[in-house]
Amino acid sequence: MTEQTPVTDAQATAVPKVPTLPDAQTVTEVQHYTDRLFSFKCTRPASLRFRSGEFVMIGLMGDPHPETGKQKPLLRAYSIASPSWDEELEFYSIKVQDGPLTSKLQHIKPGDQIILRPKPVGTLVHDALIPGKRIWFFATGTGFAPFASLLREPQTYEDYDEVIITHTCREAGELTYGRNIIESLKTDELLNEVIGEGFWKKIKYYPTTTREESAKMGRITDLINSGEAYADLGVEPLCPQNDRAMICGNLAFNLELKDMLEAAGLEEGANSKPAQYVVEKAFLD
Ligand SMILES: Cc1cc2nc3c(=O)[nH]c(=O)nc-3n(C[C@H](O)[C@H](O)[C@H](O)COP(=O)(O)OP(=O)(O)OC[C@H]3O[C@@H](n4cnc5c(N)ncnc54)[C@H](O)[C@@H]3O)c2cc1C
Ligand SMILES: NC(=O)c1ccc[n+]([C@@H]2O[C@H](COP(=O)([O-])OP(=O)(O)OC[C@H]3O[C@@H](n4cnc5c(N)ncnc54)[C@H](OP(=O)(O)O)[C@@H]3O)[C@@H](O)[C@H]2O)c1
Repeated sequence: MTEQTPVTDAQATAVPKVPTLPDAQTVTEVQHYTDRLFSFKCTRPASLRFRSGEFVMIGLMGDPHPETGKQKPLLRAYSIASPSWDEELEFYSIKVQDGPLTSKLQHIKPGDQIILRPKPVGTLVHDALIPGKRIWFFATGTGFAPFASLLREPQTYEDYDEVIITHTCREAGELTYGRNIIESLKTDELLNEVIGEGFWKKIKYYPTTTREESAKMGRITDLINSGEAYADLGVEPLCPQNDRAMICGNLAFNLELKDMLEAAGLEEGANSKPAQYVVEKAFLD
């Protein structure tokens, strides 16, 4: 037994008061992939229920106001990258050099606290799609995050015979997080048990880069328009009878793909009116 030294009033008041963040969660793991990308896990509030593919507001306390010294929470939208059944929460993040939040967030370590507002929302959910045979997840950059959640969601494999995930990034290193997630599915105990051994054979993964040499180069939009992506994947072109799709990337990418899907005869869905495809921005701009 260790000897307890009585704490005097003087000692007690000398201990600095630790500020408690509103909606605080504790960081449990951090992984860096490139100088612009990292992922982290944190504790999950017991009351938080969400659907795989949704996003929440997360952040840190901002700098103290120069006159009042008061600090306000600095929050940004983040897709939850972990599936709805997971005990912890995972996020996949950009590091913007002078970004108000990510210039700080990129330095978090296990044990640190972040703020998480437990109000999940979003359109990249199975509820917003009508039944189909094949689902396409189209991502650029950190737009992979909601699909990291949906690829680990049993319903994805219960609802569809085939799951095609495309991920376009500038550089090869930016594909690492997604590749690791897809590789980890092969040994995912829950999915192998719930869906059946070898469920991952339903997945067709199509990573491409645009500015650095890799096995497959080019924007997914161009590769689909030329027919090259269909030939590489060995699949039939998009059609409204069989295909459902979710899109998450930069604004121009989202708009271009949306036009392509509409031209193929697919209609945009929403939580309130499920249809054949849904879109969400990976970031504002
Ligand atoms: C619905 C939604 C979901 C989002 N989910 C994620 C997510 O899962 N992971 C994530 O990293 N970001 C996500 N974002 C973007 C995120 O909200 C912040 O913009 C980002 O964390 C940067 O914050 P910041 O304060 O450092 O810079 P901001 O002031 O917010 O952004 C500065 C600039 O950085 C660029 N930028 C911002 N975010 C990104 C990004 N993700 N990829 C490439 N360039 C970017 C833009 O040009 C932007 O104008 C999401 C945004 C929306 C609207
Ligand atoms: N990634 C980096 O190395 C890097 C480094 C420093 C700064 N930045 C800045 O960070 C911001 C975000 O960069 P990011 O690379 O994360 O995201 P991004 O610019 O959205 O690009 C991600 C991927 O999407 C592709 N893409 C863009 N528009 C498309 C469209 N309309 N259709 C199909 N594909 C499309 C890009 O191809 P293209 O390459 O053909 O555009 C790229 O492969 C940019 O403002 C950028 O200037 C990025």
